Amino acid sequence: MLVLGIESSCDETGVALYHSEQGLLAHVLHSQVEVHAEYGGVVPELASRDHIRFLIPLVNQLLENSGCQRSEIDAVAYTAGPGLIGALMSGAAVARSLAWALGVPAVEVHHMEGHLLAPMLEGEVPKLPFIALLVSGGHTLLAEVERVGDYRLLGQSVDDAAGEAFDKTAKLLELGYPGGPALAKLAQQCTPGRFRFPRPMTDRPGLDFSFSGLKTFALNTIQSIQSDPDLEQSKADVACAFEEAVVDTLVIKCRRALQQTGCSRLIVSGGVGANRRLRDELRAMAEERGARVYYPRIEFCTDNGAMIAYAGCQRLLAGERQPLDIDARARWPMDALAAIR
Ligand code: KG4
Ligand code: ZN
Repeated sequence: MLVLGIESSCDETGVALYHSEQGLLAHVLHSQVEVHAEYGGVVPELASRDHIRFLIPLVNQLLENSGCQRSEIDAVAYTAGPGLIGALMSGAAVARSLAWALGVPAVEVHHMEGHLLAPMLEGEVPKLPFIALLVSGGHTLLAEVERVGDYRLLGQSVDDAAGEAFDKTAKLLELGYPGGPALAKLAQQCTPGRFRFPRPMTDRPGLDFSFSGLKTFALNTIQSIQSDPDLEQSKADVACAFEEAVVDTLVIKCRRALQQTGCSRLIVSGGVGANRRLRDELRAMAEERGARVYYPRIEFCTDNGAMIAYAGCQRLLAGERQPLDIDARARWPMDALAAIR
């Protein structure tokens, strides 16, 4: 089955072709960074308009790159939520219309399920059950996954998501948008050990997270360095201490989740999963426990069409279909999904 996947929930337009037997055939991504950069964050209306402008040319480019014909597409999968409603509706409208014109089924994909299954897209596929750490700009959660579609929530952020904390702290450091990767880059130039940030909610049992306090801690620390002779170096030291605190906290909770469930496989997905320090430290923690950690390739950590095509393909193979209505949901709890295998 050849599935066209369409992602448009936020600030990236992603399209991909995934074949149930041959795997990922091609993917194309258009980033809106330039559109939003001057505003210091995503402007929803501009995001929707940009998706509308690029979706169809991207699908054409995808077909050209893959050598596939439009008529070979067996189904269309698209992100139906959660996300920015206008952005979602742009993708939903194109996906549904294409499916209707081609006379093929269309299927809604939950954006977080797309992220969560991204490590299964290619390479060595982790066996079920596994623990999933999902760290994106909008969500931070740990789930136990026994079957695809059956996500038992172990813990989640009670306030800011990890990526959101990266972005807000990056803004305080005047690193602009998108903040996470810029902060991680600056942190590489640090003097280790100059600052130490707290590791929130690690001193008590449980698997929930809280990252909003770190942002306040960063604000106070940044205010205290303003008259430093080498402000750039001091900023790098703050970036590093912040990154260490987030990574350490995530590692502590992942270790706890593996311990608590007795599981020996951890998968990591979502934009913050692209963070080098997080990848290295989780791998070291897993090795220490005789466990394995699985990641998607870096470009599939952040938003992309490939993960949507893959997740949609699994749901289509399980027989899922939706009626023709063009629908999208800004909010969509992941435990509302049906288990499929
Ligand atoms: O999964 P994603 O592309 O979009 C959402 O679904 O939210 O995640 C984007 C988030 C942003 O907050 C971004 O700053 C963060 O992932 N991010 C990173 C890195 N790359 C992306 N955070 C830390 N280090 C990185 N290398
Ligand atoms: Zn995402």
